[in-house]
Amino acid sequence: MKKRVYIAGGGGMLGEAFYQVFKDEFEIKVTDIDLNASWISFLDFRDYNAYRNELLSFRPDYLFHLGAHTSLEYCEEDIADAYLTNTIAVENAVKLSNELDIPFL
Ligand SMILES: NC(=O)c1ccc[n+]([C@@H]2O[C@H](COP(=O)([O-])OP(=O)(O)OC[C@H]3O[C@@H](n4cnc5c(N)ncnc54)[C@H](OP(=O)(O)O)[C@@H]3O)[C@@H](O)[C@H]2O)c1
Repeated sequence: MKKRVYIAGGGGMLGEAFYQVFKDEFEIKVTDIDLNASWISFLDFRDYNAYRNELLSFRPDYLFHLGAHTSLEYCEEDIADAYLTNTIAVENAVKLSNELDIPFL
């Protein structure tokens, strides 16, 4: 049986690369706020409960958390959202992988 990989914030450059490499070998679910491809479904990982429900339902063997605000200009303009997206959400993702007892990447 194929191992399961959940990729949060996988609609960007790195997510697309991971998806192309892993899609045949693994059962993959990719989510993002930007639904720019047919293989991406919606999750805003700033929403802790929604993120937890997604993971409890998909039951991944690995959690890849790739999404981020990568524009330094935006991060300087909206420090609160930058902190929530790039720090708090990552901290939450670590907690969730610990709860599921799976590797966090
Ligand atoms: N690309 C590289 O070569 C590289 C190398 C080393 C490290 N990294 C790091 O790897 C991470 C990803 O890089 P990337 O190049 O793939 O960046 P990217 O192309 O900007 O992709 C990031 C994705 O995360 C999404 N996102 C932002 N907030 C989200 C949220 N709350 N919930 C769900 N998705 C959200 C973005 O959506 P929006 O576009 O709508 O904001 C975007 O689709 C970053 O931390 C980056 O610094 C990248």
